Amino acid sequence: MSEETARIEPVVIRAESTDPQQERLVNAYEYDVDTWRKVLGHNLLFEWGVYDHPASPRPVSLDEAGARFFDRQLELAERNASNPLDPRRILDLGCGWGYCLRRLAQWFPRCPRLEGVNISRSQLEHCGSLLAEHGLKQRTNLYLCNARDLRLLPDADVGHDLVVMRGVATHFPPELYERSVAALADRVVPGGALVISDTLYDNAADSTAAITEDENDPFELRHRKSPEYFVRVLRENGFAIRDMRVLPSNTDVAHWLLELRSNIETHFPEGVTGALEEIRVAAVHLSVMMLCGQAGAYSILAERAE
Ligand SMILES: C[S@@+](CC[C@H](N)C(=O)[O-])C[C@H]1O[C@@H](n2cnc3c(N)ncnc32)[C@H](O)[C@@H]1O
Repeated sequence: MSEETARIEPVVIRAESTDPQQERLVNAYEYDVDTWRKVLGHNLLFEWGVYDHPASPRPVSLDEAGARFFDRQLELAERNASNPLDPRRILDLGCGWGYCLRRLAQWFPRCPRLEGVNISRSQLEHCGSLLAEHGLKQRTNLYLCNARDLRLLPDADVGHDLVVMRGVATHFPPELYERSVAALADRVVPGGALVISDTLYDNAADSTAAITEDENDPFELRHRKSPEYFVRVLRENGFAIRDMRVLPSNTDVAHWLLELRSNIETHFPEGVTGALEEIRVAAVHLSVMMLCGQAGAYSILAERAE
């Protein structure tokens, strides 16, 4: 194996404080890659899909729908940002198995520095192999780091111009969401952009409708946030909202969720437990909430004040 294709090893950022949720969440993601591919598709994107039904006469795979959604978010960011996007330092917070970092490297070929932060070592190891295989070793740093400790990332004097946060704040209790947005406010350059995808709930505090039936809640789905709260925290930390919309549509999100459920039931007919069972069950509850308009997948472009 050449030096260039050897895996990118994650740098471990030592925690300032303990996170009571971390171990449970890390365990929730701890299935092997083949198992996850059976559920999520080859690219292992784990944040919705755009099906665009009239424009899609043939069946659209999870990979296509997921990639289409991320591309749509990047197009919206380019269209709505105050200044042309030409980032020099990009952060993908909660970077999953690495697809988005690879896509960001293609989308912004001039960006010399792409960084992924994740609490899951196994995901980061997959990321490290994927990105090295695509010749991105020189441009990428991976950090085994909790969002709680973003302030400990190296080179605080070199700000980030673009931060992607897809599906990660979903797992955060409000205290961690507020702490990570405050840390980003210090790390993002004036005019820098946040591209966010998150699930937000009407009447988040009052609603008793179940999403999960698992009292252990491996994915920490109980931390529901309303659109108003989510945006208020961004604004209070100096981020202006440049674009905010329901994307993918509620029906596309339900479509995506039920495909995951169908994949689980087809590939594991003997049944599943733990985090996969939570996905299988939550897929129904969340789809119903989406279709009744009680929840929505929001795509947000926020910009740090100049
Ligand atoms: C739903 S997945 C989304 C993955 C990816 N962003 C995507 O678009 O497909 C959420 C990701 O956030 C990571 N994550 C969750 N809590 C985190 C935390 N406190 N700090 C860092 N990463 C976290 C998970 O390990 C996982 O990779």
